Amino acid sequence: MVTKIVLPETELPTHWYNIIPDLPVPPPPALHPGTHQPAGPDDFAPIFPMDLILQEVSSERFIEIPEEVREVYRLWRPTPMYRAHNLEKVIDGPARIYYKYEGVSPAGSHKPNTAVAQAYYNAKAGVKKLSTETGAGQWGSALSFACALFGLECKVFMVRSSYDQKPYRKAMIETWGATVHSSPSELTQAGRSIKEADPDTPGSLGIAISEAIEVAANDEDTKYSIGSALNHVLLHQTVIGEEALKQLALAGETPDVVIGCAGGGSNFGGFSFPFVREKLAGNMDPVVRAVEPAAAPSLTRGSYRYDFGDTVGMTPLLKMHTLGHDFVPDPIHAGGLRYHGMSPLVSLLKEEGIIEAESLQQTETFGRAVQFARAEGIIPGPEPTHAVASAMMEAERAKEAGEEKVIVFNLSGHGHFDMSAYQEYLEGTLVDYEYPADRIAAAMERVPVVAG
Ligand SMILES: Cc1ncc(COP(=O)(O)O)c(C=O)c1O
Repeated sequence: MVTKIVLPETELPTHWYNIIPDLPVPPPPALHPGTHQPAGPDDFAPIFPMDLILQEVSSERFIEIPEEVREVYRLWRPTPMYRAHNLEKVIDGPARIYYKYEGVSPAGSHKPNTAVAQAYYNAKAGVKKLSTETGAGQWGSALSFACALFGLECKVFMVRSSYDQKPYRKAMIETWGATVHSSPSELTQAGRSIKEADPDTPGSLGIAISEAIEVAANDEDTKYSIGSALNHVLLHQTVIGEEALKQLALAGETPDVVIGCAGGGSNFGGFSFPFVREKLAGNMDPVVRAVEPAAAPSLTRGSYRYDFGDTVGMTPLLKMHTLGHDFVPDPIHAGGLRYHGMSPLVSLLKEEGIIEAESLQQTETFGRAVQFARAEGIIPGPEPTHAVASAMMEAERAKEAGEEKVIVFNLSGHGHFDMSAYQEYLEGTLVDYEYPADRIAAAMERVPVVAG
């Protein structure tokens, strides 16, 4: 009875998978925020190195992973896939449950898969310093780790609510040599103006992105690095799904349900896109589901339209599911899911009916995560508690229906620095947030209207 399906280092993927050529319709282009015309590589050049810009718009199906990046991946990749035998016993139904575990990376999540690639391409282009946002602290720690390996300086804007909840994430970021600032900060025009308007703001990913872009746009030696949402980030994350496909095949399984949590969509996209490729090719037919928090339900409750990726409105306009770029979600513990938008590629797949989405409240997801931890041992990060909960509910539905389903989900990171959230859950003080309909409606009124 196999529990851990491990691949040898020789099975580390050699290529990232780009889903764009396999989409049923071409993805709508990013638009210049001023002219509303399609944004070209030059529009991105002040903030990203050209290799990453070209990956953002590439139509090549497979892109070779540079050996320098694979060398770093080998520190923790391939990551294990587990058969959740103990969880299956708890549920006591016919479903077989598997999870891919990304928490074995040095930073504790999937985020280094793209951090290492982005640091590598920036260093190759002669960039000296990167600026970035972080919600959960996972991305900021992943990028500071990657920058340490490639000799880059790194400046992290950490969303205030996470900065206050997770002091050890901050220490981790500093241990790898980066500097970290609570966002909104006094360091940028964006931060100062937001603080002036709302001194008690918990911050948001959108605000931290505005600050990080402002720093990069005003300094020739600094580029901006993004932790999620954009095409090149999801591309780098496809190592997860490519490995998972092989691991499930080794277990002799074909999935019926593929699940990931979604903030900006990078672990969900990276895990599920290789399965979506096989689904579109007719080789399997799983339900593919993104799970998001009820407090920031972009895919389930947002509108599919052009909007900014940041709060202030500095990014190109992206066609995506959005709650409005200046909507500030309530301070739930899944800081990495507190984002107003969604990856344009994930959004398009949802619009085309190729994937589905659901939203869950945090007391439900933490309750399930505690059950999971007591059965499987691993304490999930607050973000993947959403995937854990959805997978468990799916298995319970399979039990009721007497169906022998194969369920696979991505456990995108551990929760070792998020124990204050578990403490609140265990003490009974964790609260749910209602769908903030009026605040979202107000934010949507400020989304630019794009013709066509
Ligand atoms: C462990 C973990 N999972 C998921 C997420 C959500 O991001 P994404 O949707 O890009 O995977 C984060 C973001 O910080 C994270 O730290």
